[in-house]
Amino acid sequence: MCGIIGAVAQRPVADILIEGLRRLEYRGYDSAGLAVLDSTNRLQRSRAVGKVAMLATKLLETPIDGKTGIAHTRWATHGKPAEMNAHPHVSGTWLGVVHNGIIENYLALREKLGSYGYGFDSETDTEVIAHLVALHLKREGSLLKATLKARQEFKGAYALAILSPEEPNTLVVARQGSPLIIGLGIGENFVGSDIQAMLPVTNRFIYLENGDVAYVGLHKIEIYNEEGELVERPIRESRAKDSASELGEYRHFMLKEIFEQPTAIASTLENRLASGHFLPSIVGQNVMETLAKVEEIQIIACGTSYHAGMVGRYWIESMTDIPCTVEVASEYRYRRQPLRKNMLFVTISQSGETADTLAALEKIKEAKGCLASLSICNVAESSLVRESDMNLMTVAGPEIGVASTKAFTTQLLALQLLLGTLIQAKTGETDASRKLAQDLQLLPILVEQVLELNPVIEKLAEQFIDKHHSLFLGRGAQYPIALEGALKLKEISYIHAEAYPAGELKHGPLALVDSEMPVVAIAPTGLLLEKLKSNLEVVHARGGQLYVFASQNAQMKPDEQTHVIELPAVPEMLAPIVYTIPLQLLAYHVAVLKGTDVDKPRNLAKSVTVE
Ligand code: G6P
Repeated sequence: MCGIIGAVAQRPVADILIEGLRRLEYRGYDSAGLAVLDSTNRLQRSRAVGKVAMLATKLLETPIDGKTGIAHTRWATHGKPAEMNAHPHVSGTWLGVVHNGIIENYLALREKLGSYGYGFDSETDTEVIAHLVALHLKREGSLLKATLKARQEFKGAYALAILSPEEPNTLVVARQGSPLIIGLGIGENFVGSDIQAMLPVTNRFIYLENGDVAYVGLHKIEIYNEEGELVERPIRESRAKDSASELGEYRHFMLKEIFEQPTAIASTLENRLASGHFLPSIVGQNVMETLAKVEEIQIIACGTSYHAGMVGRYWIESMTDIPCTVEVASEYRYRRQPLRKNMLFVTISQSGETADTLAALEKIKEAKGCLASLSICNVAESSLVRESDMNLMTVAGPEIGVASTKAFTTQLLALQLLLGTLIQAKTGETDASRKLAQDLQLLPILVEQVLELNPVIEKLAEQFIDKHHSLFLGRGAQYPIALEGALKLKEISYIHAEAYPAGELKHGPLALVDSEMPVVAIAPTGLLLEKLKSNLEVVHARGGQLYVFASQNAQMKPDEQTHVIELPAVPEMLAPIVYTIPLQLLAYHVAVLKGTDVDKPRNLAKSVTVE
C-alpha cells in the first residue's frame, strides 16, 4: 500500500528518495513519483505509472534534483492508476504533497475549494489536501500553521509530507491513522512511512503519534500534538538490519523468508520458555492476575493473520475451557455484538497498521467491552502495539514479500505461547502445558527438516501450471492451514484456489471434481486422519488428482491419481505450523513457473492502511 519518503538535506536527495521508494516497493503500489525544490527553489516533479525503476529511468532521461524532496508509491484508491493520479500532487507553484490514507470528506472539500476557484487535475482525494493547505498558506504565511489549520477540516486517515518553495529546507508532516516516522540525521532529516525506507541514511527515529503535525528542518524538529501543543516524542534507535532488505543468495524475498522460518521461530521462542514453563513476562509485567480472570477470548485479524487466529481457536478450545471466537476485522468493526464478561480481546497482525484491525480494537476500547486487549504483532513500534494493553511480539524480522510466510508461522507460535501462559495463569502448570513447552523446542529443527522437501515440491509444482482451479482440504486445525495454502496459491500464482473442511466436500465442492481439478490435502496423524482418508476416497472415485501432504506414519498409498509427499511425524499441536511450510513452497514454485511477480503480486499490498 502507499509509501512515503522525504528528505531535507544539504546534499542532493533524488537518489536517497529513489532508494527509499525501492525499499517501500514491498508494500504494493501501482505508480510512483517525486518532487524536489531545485537549485533555483522551483518545485519540480516527475511521476510514472508502474515500477519505481520506470521513475528512475525517467529521471535519468530528464534529471531533476534538489536538497529538499518528497516521494511516494501509490496504491490506487480514488482514481485509476495513471500518471495524473500519481503523487506528489501540487497546488500551482505553491506546494507539493504526498499522502497515504483516505480523506473521507474529499468531495465536500473539493466543492468548497472549487468555489474558491481551485481546479483539479486528478481524480484523487489527495489533491484537496494540496489546495486546502495552499489556501491556508496564503493566509497564514507559514507551512506549519497552514497545515495545522487545514488538518482541522480533514476527516479520515492520513500521513502527509508537504514541501513548498515558500519555505525552502522545510518539510511539514502530519499523521492521523496512517504511520509516519521522522528519521534523524546530522544537519539533515528524513521522513518515511516505515523505517526500511530510511535505513540507508539513519537508524534514529521519532514515531509520530496520531494527531501530530511536525516541522522538519535541517537542524530543527518541532512536533505539535492534536491540541496544537508543542510536544516531545522519544527518539528510538533501531537495531533493524539494513540487510533485511537484501535478497542475498535468493531469487525472491518470499523464498528467502520461507527459509528464514527456523531462525524466526527460534528467535520468537527465545527467552520465553524455561524448563517446561512459559515465562509470564511473555506478554508484559504483572499480567497473570488479568489472564487468570479471562472467561472468553475474541480474536480479530485480517488475511493470513486471520487464518492464524482460526488455528488459535482450535488450540485454545482443545486445551482450556475458555470459549474462543475468531472474526475478520472488517466485519467485526461494523457489527453489533453483545458485550461479554471478562473477555480477552486478541488482535493478530504482522504489520500492526492494518486499518480494519486497528478500528476493531478502537471500537472495543471505546465500548469498554473487554477485560484487556492483547496484540500478537511483528512490529514493536506499530500503532497496534501502542494501542494494546498487552503485547506478544513475534520475532520474525522484517517481511518484504507481500505474501506472508514467516510472519504467519511465528504468529501460530505466539498463539501457542499465549495458550501455555493462559493455562498457567488459570490452573497453574499442568502436564499438558509442560508437554506443549517441551514440544515447542522441537519446532525450529522440524521446520528445517521439512524445508528439505523443497526440490520435491519444485518438481510437483510443474503439475499445477496449466491449471485454472484447485481445491485444498484439511480437517480440524488443518482446515485453516488449507485456507492459508489456498490463499498463498491464489495470491501469487493467480490460480483460483478454494479451501474446504474435508467433511464439507459432499455439500457442494465435490461437483467441481474431475481429472482436471488438483485437490491438495493435509494429512498428519491424529483423530481425524481416518475421516480425512474417507473424504479423499470420494475424490479419488471421481477421478480427482490428489496431492497429499501426509505424515510418514499416515500410511497413505500413492497411485497414478494420488501423489503423496511425506513429512516427518510431529506432535499434533505442532502439525499446523509444520504443514504450512510445503504449502508455501508449492505456491512459490507454481508462481515462479508461471512467471508472476512473486514478491509483489498484482493488486495486493503488504500493509493495508486503508479500509
Ligand atoms: C495484507 C497482506 C497480508 C496480510 C493482511 C493482514 O492483505 O498482504 O499478507 O495477512 O494484509 O495484514 P496484517 O499486517 O494485519 O497481518
